[in-house]
Amino acid sequence: MKQSYLFTIFGSTGDLTARKLLPAITELIKKSYDIHVIAVGRRIFNDDTYLTYMDEKTTQPLNKTVLKDRLHYLEMDIHDPLHYLNLKEKQRSFLNGKTKRLYYMAVGPELFGVITDGLNHAHLVKKDDVSDVVAFEKPFGEDLLSAESINALLSKHFSERQMFRIDHYLGKEMIQNIMMLRFANRIIEDSWHNRSIKKMSVYVKEKDGILSRAGYYDKVGALRDMMQSHVLQIVSLLTMDIPISYYSDDVKNEKVAALQALTIDDSETVLGQYQGYLEEDNVIKNSTTETFVFLKGFVNTPRFKGVPIYMITGKNLDEKNAFIEIEFEETSEQRKWHLPLSTNRLRINIAPEDGFQLTLNAKVPGLREGVQQVKLGYDVDNLGVGNLPEAYEKLLLDMMEHHRTLFTRWDEIQASWQIIDLVLKQEKNIYTYKDYHDLIAYIKDKTGETLL
Ligand code: BG6
Repeated sequence: MKQSYLFTIFGSTGDLTARKLLPAITELIKKSYDIHVIAVGRRIFNDDTYLTYMDEKTTQPLNKTVLKDRLHYLEMDIHDPLHYLNLKEKQRSFLNGKTKRLYYMAVGPELFGVITDGLNHAHLVKKDDVSDVVAFEKPFGEDLLSAESINALLSKHFSERQMFRIDHYLGKEMIQNIMMLRFANRIIEDSWHNRSIKKMSVYVKEKDGILSRAGYYDKVGALRDMMQSHVLQIVSLLTMDIPISYYSDDVKNEKVAALQALTIDDSETVLGQYQGYLEEDNVIKNSTTETFVFLKGFVNTPRFKGVPIYMITGKNLDEKNAFIEIEFEETSEQRKWHLPLSTNRLRINIAPEDGFQLTLNAKVPGLREGVQQVKLGYDVDNLGVGNLPEAYEKLLLDMMEHHRTLFTRWDEIQASWQIIDLVLKQEKNIYTYKDYHDLIAYIKDKTGETLL
């Protein structure tokens, strides 16, 4: 019997389902994975009208030919335990002896408890049985305390092994590449410590504002929306120690240790809000929600002690660009050259470009002495591999195959909330910024740091 997969999506009429989940599932079906989807929602649709509705919701058209026989709509009140019996009935036609059931919570965390209780009530999930798994996304709460209560709700009916906490940045090609870059390259591995690295910066810049997401965003802000998850995940991959193996738990043990050793230098924190934010639809009057964050931290491990780590993320900036910049120390010989030598830099491009670039000093060709910076680069786009799989395609596949490395474990969430909770406790001074250049000037003035 062929392995098959049954996704049940709660929150099936939302943006995430339209823009990310259905396109990713389409790609997997095209690659011959046997997948059916039950889309659960409150509204009245049949399979056809649901597909048409979702198609109209997205800017990229859905592949209706592929999805037509695979996508099944179920109208259901998730608050009514009896409705879970209808779900059970609906599932029955897609189950064979080798079907894995994947529940996807594309809903707010306030509904997790209701849904998991409902599933349990109808015996739609068996604790500890990894052929029933659940996926959910940030926000994993708004602080450590609320994250703990969400986790407790889910843990009632699912064990840790059945939970897949999605941080879609971990599915991005170059984030997946960080470990290989660090640990499978002698020249990098040998210099990945505080004797060679001068500073590290992680930038996740966005050009858009909050679009139409005020209802969500105004309550969370950039610290909870981006720092707690995506940015701290990247920092942990950059600063973790060598794991004893590349099995998921060994890697995560090191990531957690790095996060637990991370402290933030309060005096350098900058929070900003873009001009015009208060006029966005549904933003509350006088909101002090931050749309930009600059943090300086240190990972106090023998490997990284003393190396400043800058974390920058925000909306309404000059460009959409996520990258990491590692600056190395000067060489011991550098001063003797009497030339404007620069420090070596490794830049890891995450999006929209994927690749990395190493900047080195080289002699200017010709008769005269001189130095120039040369860049050795790897650019995924130039490999002709075609479109890379979207992060969600990789994450859904890993979930189907029970590969856990690209998902966050509970203690990673705990450790990152501990860091963010401390920042949230600081007195909030919000700088209103006109644009990115304005922020660069402000941060230079306040902290002496020059942003890229
Ligand atoms: C999400 C945040 O997790 O990531 C959004 O909630 C943000 O606010 C988005 O825009 C950025 O993701 P990407 O993949 O477009 O860089």
